[in-house]
Amino acid sequence: MLNSKDNETICRVGPATPMGELMRRYWHPVCTSAQLPVPDAPPLRVRLLGESYVVFRDTEGRVGMLDELCMHRGASLALGRVEEGGLRCLYHGWKFHVTGTVMETPNHADPKYRERMKAPAYPVREAGGLVWAYVGPKDLQPEFSQYAFMEAQPEHRVALRINVNCNYLQLVEGGEDSSHVGVLHTNMARPGWKDDSFEPNPDVVNPAALLSNDLEPTLKIEETAFGFQYVALRKTNEAGVKNARVVPFIVPYGRIIPAPAFLFTVFEVPEDDTQTATYIVVHGKAPVSEDKIIELLGLDDTRYYDRKSCVYTSTWADNFGQNRQRMSESWTGLRGVEVEDATIALSQGPFYDRSKEHLVPADQAVVRVRRTLLNAIKLAAENGTPPGVGLDLRGVSACDAPLKDGELWQDLLPTHRDIAAA
Ligand code: FES
Ligand SMILES: [Fe+2]
Repeated sequence: MLNSKDNETICRVGPATPMGELMRRYWHPVCTSAQLPVPDAPPLRVRLLGESYVVFRDTEGRVGMLDELCMHRGASLALGRVEEGGLRCLYHGWKFHVTGTVMETPNHADPKYRERMKAPAYPVREAGGLVWAYVGPKDLQPEFSQYAFMEAQPEHRVALRINVNCNYLQLVEGGEDSSHVGVLHTNMARPGWKDDSFEPNPDVVNPAALLSNDLEPTLKIEETAFGFQYVALRKTNEAGVKNARVVPFIVPYGRIIPAPAFLFTVFEVPEDDTQTATYIVVHGKAPVSEDKIIELLGLDDTRYYDRKSCVYTSTWADNFGQNRQRMSESWTGLRGVEVEDATIALSQGPFYDRSKEHLVPADQAVVRVRRTLLNAIKLAAENGTPPGVGLDLRGVSACDAPLKDGELWQDLLPTHRDIAAA
């Protein structure tokens, strides 16, 4: 459990909150590149850490991010016209460059007036199929962190966004909770579950495909420069060999989940205290299609997900689409990894109070997420540099591999140590 005070501290992300201050030390994904598909595409309204912005791609293809409300009299620029190298407000036609330069003020033609002003604009990068922005203090702006997926060939990568109506930490904790994989995702993790036979799922893209039938993994955790890594050790049929599934936690909300032939890098970006934009980037050494990932995640069903708006649409109104008639075949009565994960997070409510929980040793990584975040908040408040800020994260990875007795699980991903040494 977590007392209500600490729960508030790590869940609330708005301006001037302790977690909000910590979060503002990092670069954040704010949309996918696909959401701004062409130059002068329609602008997007973006919520990030309880504040509103607009992102747009200009005529030259550059992406900019400004405060949502126009600096003249506050109309939303997300309704504006994107044209001739800038974003123009509908109300009185003021026009802004991606850098925040005020290009035109038609209702006050004197250029001296607009030359004195600058619209609030934020540093933006586009990498790995995502658009990233930094909204923290200017003097603390860190290097942009690179990830391995940013180096993958575009046809070997899929980047998706799913907007889920609950606090980010519920989704983060699900991602650092190995013991739920063999239960919640039973149909994909242990396809023979009905007759108690175990054959691994042959789908090499599925991140819930387990190599063991053991439902009570032993967890071991080690701190790293980016947060921590943990291993879930499961029994196998081979004497002296365990199955080791290693997953990193990248402060403040990132993880990488291994599938047999691909990696799923996931960011649970808080839009505000009760809404989260989940970004899932799948990459590997072979081609992978967006349709395949959408289907695997269960997002091809329009009751759950709207591909255009990226909104996860399922609610209690129809019990999240659960089909109880199918539960003799399907453990959950749901279909797809993300549908199962999002449904559980939503079932905890929009803002879960952790003060009534009953934790067990298999929840150790979840407990460590909370402790790591509370420590990082403290460090940031004392003017220290929080974990992962500005680091090159290309060496962060995940794996699902056999581990012989006597071997060190940390040796499965030795690059994690190199990042620690950087
Ligand atoms: S409010 Fe935007 S130009 Fe007037
Ligand atoms: Fe899951």
